[in-house]
Amino acid sequence: MRRPRIKSCETKWMEERESAMHALRDIDRRGFLKVSAAAAAAAMTYGMAPHSFQPVRIAHGAPREGFMFAYISDSHLYERKINDRFVRQLLRAVDDVNAMDPQPDFVLYGGDLAQLGQKAELELGAAILKELKAPVRMMVGEHDWFLDMGVLWRSLFGEPTYSFDHKGIHFVVLNSILEEDFWTERKLTPMQRMKTVAGLDNNSQRSFMVGEEQREWLKTDLASIPTSTPVVVFSHSPLYKLYKGWNFWTADADEVQAILKRFAKVTVIHGHTHQLLTNRIGNIQFHGMLSTAWPWPYAPQGLPEYTVQMNRPDPFNPADGCGNGTVRIHPDGVADKVYALWNRNPITVTGASLKARGKTEKPAPPNRPAY
Ligand SMILES: [Fe+2]
Ligand SMILES: [Fe+2]
Repeated sequence: MRRPRIKSCETKWMEERESAMHALRDIDRRGFLKVSAAAAAAAMTYGMAPHSFQPVRIAHGAPREGFMFAYISDSHLYERKINDRFVRQLLRAVDDVNAMDPQPDFVLYGGDLAQLGQKAELELGAAILKELKAPVRMMVGEHDWFLDMGVLWRSLFGEPTYSFDHKGIHFVVLNSILEEDFWTERKLTPMQRMKTVAGLDNNSQRSFMVGEEQREWLKTDLASIPTSTPVVVFSHSPLYKLYKGWNFWTADADEVQAILKRFAKVTVIHGHTHQLLTNRIGNIQFHGMLSTAWPWPYAPQGLPEYTVQMNRPDPFNPADGCGNGTVRIHPDGVADKVYALWNRNPITVTGASLKARGKTEKPAPPNRPAY
């Protein structure tokens, strides 16, 4: 695919600024690779990606083959003539993943590929993701869905609810951003509906949910899976109730958690919150994904106690607080996640620390001050 070359005034300004500030800031990933390819390779060996990756190490119980998959999430693409920064930041993530050696087994896309679910946005995103060398597994976000209720997304990427097995792990991908109908009675147009959902912190919509149909599907899907098999669930919204006011919330999370309860080892990887976010509820470990587009602030209440907060990002650097990542499946029964924020050192959240309820392996704090 031909890379977009359209540059807005903002982009040109930011590029000039980035260039001028480069000597004073962190060395960027490409520069890092140029001067220290060997160090980067060594870092990869230990699940530590230079700069732009977030390795999560997940392994449970019985010995099985370890592996790594990458993920990219929440790119919120507009048409590039409107905003090419978000396009460039998704391209940066794709370049980062393609530079991995060895390559990840697959790449999870975590949802919110588009900003308003429009054809030009989703097709642009699909074309960029086609540049990934590794196979791509897609998850849907609310920004992809509510313009046409998933019609175009499905035509591009297939059904949003599915499962697969990979090297001893059972993976489930859910569409967790369904909402009860708030639009028909109010006679909203599709775009009004989309913008209402995209508003996030308005009071005009309902909460996200997995819904009864998917919960029944999940029960059936898991029925033949032994309880000793590690289960990894991908959901766009967090599968717990964090902060209703911003829809950092899944209304039927308790029911979904109950379905997952019989498994000894469950890890949920979610998008939507655009920030470092860690939680543990019973047998389930939760890890949020960073966005490639922008970092959300933390909700004013409900922050899970195991979360290491990333500091308030640099307002003059729109990539600060963003990132992408990888997920590593290890054979030792523990899930580790490294948040490799762009512009900051990676932050590791280990499964052992969650297992010990934060008493061991405390993650290092961000290496930059809050702005
Ligand atoms: Fe998002
Ligand atoms: Fe979202």
